[in-house]
Amino acid sequence: MAGNWKMYKTPAETKAFFEKFRPLVEKSEHCEVVICPPFTSLAAAVEAAGGSRIGVGSQNIAWAREGAFTGEISGPMLKAVGATHAIVGHSERRQYFGETDETVLKRAQAALEFGLTPIVCVGERLEQRESGGTEAVLVAQFQNGIAGLTPEQFAKIVIAYEPVWAIGTGKTATPEIAADAHRAIRAQARARYGAPAADATRILYGVCVKPDNVKSLMAQPEIDGVLVGGASLDAVGFASIVNF
Ligand code: PGA
Repeated sequence: MAGNWKMYKTPAETKAFFEKFRPLVEKSEHCEVVICPPFTSLAAAVEAAGGSRIGVGSQNIAWAREGAFTGEISGPMLKAVGATHAIVGHSERRQYFGETDETVLKRAQAALEFGLTPIVCVGERLEQRESGGTEAVLVAQFQNGIAGLTPEQFAKIVIAYEPVWAIGTGKTATPEIAADAHRAIRAQARARYGAPAADATRILYGVCVKPDNVKSLMAQPEIDGVLVGGASLDAVGFASIVNF
């Protein structure tokens, strides 16, 4: 159960969140929990999560170790601050900041090289869904991105499916639509890496997950977890998602 805070919360707000959130998930051993704050709140999150099972992830990661890459943050820097995960290829990065399947692959590879678990996002836009191309988009994103990982690397990643057309609409894909997309992604994984690897990989569902719809989403065997945006900003709300 991963929370993507996007561009919200200062270090002080992060500390306040964890004070409320930690006791509510202390006994939640049925799943992994990861919070992905903005870079500037990573250190505060790591400190506030110290000694708990809660992982802390970044929302992006550079593909290089270091160098002349203004505005980028590298894997060793994230590791040094205590991060465990890194979101790569979020639809907002693809839409506003020019991420492509190729850069997503490079970033995922860098995360793995530096010991972070990449949460690799895929998903189709509205016009792609309406023209019936959902599966083709997922296939292309898999083939041009994820499929470049070795089997050893693939075994360590988490995939997140985000139907981009539903972001910000307040609507979520129905659990059945989500499960169909997850099946299409898993079929790609099976073809490339074999059935055991495909079955073992975790695919999170990630748009408009809320305390009141998480149960029906998680009831789908194809959905292994959720990547939560807006609803992860509220400690009580996100704890109730974690404890669905
Ligand atoms: P949302 O965001 O839960 O606010 O829809 C999901 C995401 O973009 O990760």
